[in-house]
Amino acid sequence: MTETSLKTDNPYVPKLTTISKIVQENDINDLKTFRLEFQNPEDAKAYKHIPGQFGGLTIFGYGECPIGIASSPTDGDYVEFTVKKVGVVTTALHEMKEGDTIGLRGPFGNGWPMERLKGHHILIIGGGFAFTTLRALVRYMLYPDNRQDFGDIAVLYGARNSGEMIYKYDLDDWKKRDDIKLDLTIDVGEDTWKFNVGYVPDICKTVTLAKTHPTCEQTIALVCGPPIMIRFTIPVLKDFGFHDDDILLSLENRMKCGIGKCGHCMVGEKYVCTDGPVFTQSQLKDMPKEY
Ligand SMILES: Cc1cc2nc3c(=O)[nH]c(=O)nc-3n(C[C@H](O)[C@H](O)[C@H](O)COP(=O)(O)OP(=O)(O)OC[C@H]3O[C@@H](n4cnc5c(N)ncnc54)[C@H](O)[C@@H]3O)c2cc1C
Ligand code: FES
Repeated sequence: MTETSLKTDNPYVPKLTTISKIVQENDINDLKTFRLEFQNPEDAKAYKHIPGQFGGLTIFGYGECPIGIASSPTDGDYVEFTVKKVGVVTTALHEMKEGDTIGLRGPFGNGWPMERLKGHHILIIGGGFAFTTLRALVRYMLYPDNRQDFGDIAVLYGARNSGEMIYKYDLDDWKKRDDIKLDLTIDVGEDTWKFNVGYVPDICKTVTLAKTHPTCEQTIALVCGPPIMIRFTIPVLKDFGFHDDDILLSLENRMKCGIGKCGHCMVGEKYVCTDGPVFTQSQLKDMPKEY
């Protein structure tokens, strides 16, 4: 085996990518979407992900961090990540420019269970910037070749204020379509805001569920957001009649290797990086509350 092929097969070695596009997502500019293109065409061909998986982004000289993949595999020969500036690695990433090189490992994790979702109505509930992998899923489902595989699609997305709402360009597209129902909400009203005002769990109950009235046996709910949003949204879904098996959540535990070797992400007997990050509410109920 040559040295090159050894390196290529090593899951700890990041592939080199170039930042081809950076989008500022929020008004205060601590959330940016980075589009990455592989420098080696063989790496691009080999990188196959499903919505809900994550990648390890390496900023050389600073470190690596796990980030959910925000683009759909149907989007093209690139991968997108939406990153909040919180610490060492993410700040270094935010200082980078289009044309700069960063490393990428993965894709990691189980992702959203695409085969299980097919043939069902889909209810998506997202809050804040945790909407990233749900955005990837919506883009995947709306792709013309895939749309017929799914029933009704309803999306509820909430942010603290309109300036914090990410992917405005996608939301504008989805508003115009008649094959997806979109409810937007912000915590406190603003003069120019024309949509819902209130917290996600309340709007879920009084607007989204009341309006779409999904049949729980045929609908799968996917929830991503801050822990407090999740805590209050689950009972709303349960009261409406959703079964724990039909409520899916994605966890963001601390991680290192991403491939089930180091144990950093363990919750009980589960490796969040390989058994998850997507779990059903039934699975989470049986796990220690370390997530
Ligand atoms: C599966 C998965 C998917 C993720 N997807 C995204 C995403 O799409 N976009 C995004 O912006 N972030 C995402 N994260 C969180 C991201 O990995 C952390 O914000 C990042 O590692 C911080 O690195 P840093 O070096 O900048 O921060 P550090 O310097 O390490 O820490 C800065 C601050 O962030 C806190 N922090 C660090 N890591 C985490 C974490 N995993 N959870 C909560 N707090 C943390 C630290 O306690 C500290 O307060 C995801 C994490 C996981 C595990
Ligand atoms: S991050 Fe290493 S085992 Fe999960």
